[in-house]
This record gives sequence, C-alpha cells and structure tokens, in this order.
Amino acid sequence: MLKSTKYKNEKVTFFDKGKGKVIVLLHGFLGSHKIWEQTIHDLSRSYRVIAIDLPGHGGTDCVGYAHSMDLMAKCVKSVLDSLRLKKYVIIGHSMGGYVALAFADLYPDYLNGLCLYHSTAYADSKEKKKDRLRAVAAVKANRAIYTKTTIKNLFATKNLNYLKDEIAFATAIAKDTGKKGMIAALLGMKDRPRRDIILSLVKYPIMMVIGEQDNILPYEQLLEQSELIKNKSVLYLEHDGHMGFLESPRESNKALRKFLAKCF
Ligand code: MLT
Repeated sequence: MLKSTKYKNEKVTFFDKGKGKVIVLLHGFLGSHKIWEQTIHDLSRSYRVIAIDLPGHGGTDCVGYAHSMDLMAKCVKSVLDSLRLKKYVIIGHSMGGYVALAFADLYPDYLNGLCLYHSTAYADSKEKKKDRLRAVAAVKANRAIYTKTTIKNLFATKNLNYLKDEIAFATAIAKDTGKKGMIAALLGMKDRPRRDIILSLVKYPIMMVIGEQDNILPYEQLLEQSELIKNKSVLYLEHDGHMGFLESPRESNKALRKFLAKCF
C-alpha cells in the first residue's frame, strides 16, 4: 500500500507491504520504491517490507539544495519512527547503501542487519568528485539525455541487448526524479564521508551484493571491503552490472532470503 508522511514539512512517499519482521528497502540514484517491484513481491510474502522514496526521488519532495546522505538517513528514520518501528534490516541499493551506512552510523541500535546492494563504504575519489560536478552540469544542460545514458550504464554492457524491458522500466522510473532532486543527490553523494569502519565494527550481519560487470563501482574495491566484515554474506553476480535485482532477480532474491534468515 502506498503511504505518505512528512519530513521537514515536505511529503515523503513509501510503500508498505506484508507482515512480520521489518525490511527497509532504499533505492539508488534515479530510483524509487517502484524499482524494487520484484523484490517487494517476493520478500513481502514473509516479511513486512517498507520501500521508501528518498528525498527528491519518486513521490518524495526535495528538502534542500543538496541532500547529504545523513539528511536522507534522517528522513528514513522519521518514516520508520512514524510507523513506531524499532528494529529492522536495511537493504540499500548503491546510493541507498550510502544512506544505509549513514543510518548505521547515526542510529546504531536499530539494525538487525545491513545489505550493501552494489554499494560502497568508501567516499568518492577526487576524480569521482569532479565527475559529480560534470554530471550536475549535464543535468542542467539536458536532463533527459543525462538520464538515458546514466540508466544504460547501470546494466552490464553484455546485458543491454536482451534486457530492453528492464532498461525501459528503470528509465520510466527515473522520469519521476526531477532536476532539483538529481542535483541535490549528486551533491550529497559527492560529499559523503567514507564509512568502511562500520563494516569492521558492527556485530550484526552485513551482506554485499557485487556485480562483476559493474560499470560504476570497481570490483577490486568491493572485494577489499567485503574482507573487513566480520559476519558477512556475499553474493557475486558474475554476469551482472549494477542492477542485480533486475538483471538476476531470482538469484538475488534467493540470496537475500538466506541473509535475512541469518539476521532475525
Ligand atoms: C546509484 O546507482 O545510486 C549511483 O550510481 C551511485 C553513485 O553514483 O555513486
């Protein structure tokens, strides 16, 4: 069921489905709760799934010029507080993973587990920070072209030809993110701190989903980070890029279920 609440007086939209232990899904840049359609369908048979539209994305309004990962985590916390939820597993895709790590930092006592789904605990490199500013300029110049190229790049190059429907699905969802929301997220991601210390400190299980054909995140860096985790689950998707839940939904959901059983 689609619901809404307020954060800093702005509308926040989220999807709430199922009963039982709580799983929070956080989408990536240009996503919304809709991107998790198949994951929600599968997990909500056993869990209560809350999929939140992050600030400036989907049905959630912007709350400022730049959306830091901490601000987004505070917005997520306000949604979960409004539902009086106290313990959950957060699954964050890419930018949603950066938000999940900010959440873990700010609210360490609320998590039963954390999944970094094609995401990294490192900060942006100097070069990546420059890319973010180039991206802001590209969004200002032509949002539609920027969106189209960015979405294609999320899929493994060799999957582009036969995942046309999935690419069209992700592109349609990205249309719900306006120029302001895109720029605010790009600036927030650019300035996020590294949080790899969390990976080695926390006691609850952490899962990483790693696409071996990911065009966005360097595979070696993700392997390095997975070594830091004490109680870890790692899913390697040999043929996939940055969109495992669309590129290999069955395999991804099966691994998520195994991880969730470990968390609760
Ligand atoms: C995402 O999918 O959320 C973005 O690719 C993350 C990023 O640009 O760092």
